[in-house]
Amino acid sequence: MPKPRATLGIDLHLEPSGPGLRRGLTDALREAVRTGRLAPGTRLPSSRSLAADLGIARNTVADAYADLVAEGWLTARQGSGTQVADRAVPRPPTRPATPHRAPGRLPYDLIPGTPDLSSFPRTEWLRAARHALTAAPHDALGYGDPRGRTELRTALAGYLARARGVRADPEHIVVCSGFAHGLKLLGELLHARGHRTLAVEPYGLDVHWDLLARTGLRTVPLPSDGLGPRTEDLGSLEDLEVPEGLQDLKDGDSTPPVPPVPPVPPVPAVLLNPSHQFPIGGALPPERRAAAVDWARRTGGLILEDDYDGEFRYDRQPVGALQGLDPDHVVYLGTASKSLAPGLRLGWMVLPPHLVPEAARLGGRSTGVLEQLTLAEFIACGAYDRHVRAARLRYRRRRDALVAALAARAPEVRVGGIAAGLHAVLHLPPGTEESVVRAAAWQGLAVHGLSRYRHPSAAAGPGDALVVGYGTPPDHAWAGTLEALCRALP
Ligand SMILES: Cc1ncc(COP(=O)(O)O)c(C=O)c1O
Repeated sequence: MPKPRATLGIDLHLEPSGPGLRRGLTDALREAVRTGRLAPGTRLPSSRSLAADLGIARNTVADAYADLVAEGWLTARQGSGTQVADRAVPRPPTRPATPHRAPGRLPYDLIPGTPDLSSFPRTEWLRAARHALTAAPHDALGYGDPRGRTELRTALAGYLARARGVRADPEHIVVCSGFAHGLKLLGELLHARGHRTLAVEPYGLDVHWDLLARTGLRTVPLPSDGLGPRTEDLGSLEDLEVPEGLQDLKDGDSTPPVPPVPPVPPVPAVLLNPSHQFPIGGALPPERRAAAVDWARRTGGLILEDDYDGEFRYDRQPVGALQGLDPDHVVYLGTASKSLAPGLRLGWMVLPPHLVPEAARLGGRSTGVLEQLTLAEFIACGAYDRHVRAARLRYRRRRDALVAALAARAPEVRVGGIAAGLHAVLHLPPGTEESVVRAAAWQGLAVHGLSRYRHPSAAAGPGDALVVGYGTPPDHAWAGTLEALCRALP
């Protein structure tokens, strides 16, 4: 590896590494700009003097500069040489790493999981916060009900019934710190009941499988086909069979505060995204929704419904929540992470009545009361609906721009999963996924291949693809991000 050197003229410490001098130098310079060591406007040494300083051919430096000019990191103007592009230094995304996101390093970001944070409705949120705190009685600041503030549970019950077809009674809602937190406590609850496995969709988020594993539950992927997970096979998943002799037993009607172990027989359970599969997209077809509910009724099973982005539908009527079909066998889990921002850590569960006390005991009082009261006011005054409608329009435009750009510039790529949500799946020619992800990184674009979302025990799925989180970039970066994506595609 060449030794680190300081350049002539400016004090530039470069450590070219990796295969090939040109690439190593390009990477080192890009890194220096990206991290801010080379500030916007900084004039770089001439290719001749940098080449002399590094002891390499002048053409290698000229080529590296040209690459970085093409990528937009540098500018070259007659008479003023080569400079660091005069724009804000792209920084790693400042969002806290969501569980499934490695800390970002590239200027363009299409990793799914985060909405456009620059569109968070700050003014409306502040207004709701001020109103909520002003109106809150003193006792609102106490420990309060472990299920969460009644104002929020009431507002959520109204909203979820109206917008998502959930059969929601405020008494059966438990507020939690986002979906992942709700899932964790449901895992603990199932484990305490003697359960050791949980069926999941074959594609999903490893953070969720890991989190379930930490509660003592092994995840078992359902078989799937072009229509999605085969819920009709739930009954035949060996791992989920109810131990003999227990089928006739019923769940307890209300759970005592300190349950004996196990308080009720183990029951099979499954985690589904019925309204919008993550990441492949698509809604669970009606006959598979019905099959899941039939299975749950037959076996006393429990369906955990992850409705993470149910608000965002574009081409069709929203698919109502599965919970509406059978509130006694479905736990509905919702979150503000897509509709508002994941940093709020606000989520909610609508539970079968008999699970409420235990869920509240395990997970209650996890969310600050001021956030709860603010969200309650935000929903009650109509700001949530307005925000979601505006966001839906903005994301729909992005989705349309994505589809149009791909049709024009990458006709070999088939786009799927676009009817809903904040991400799309770009099906690639066989064997190209890895190289496209690498090419994207060269364009300064962070994007994931579909394969990283496959459950380790699941059969191979729909082949090579990218999962494109088009909701993630802020508006001002969207055009550049789309351009970088198109350049990376075959
Ligand atoms: C499939 C899926 N479920 C749920 C969530 C929301 O998780 P949380 O509410 O913990 O932020 C996400 C966020 O990325 C997701 O992708």
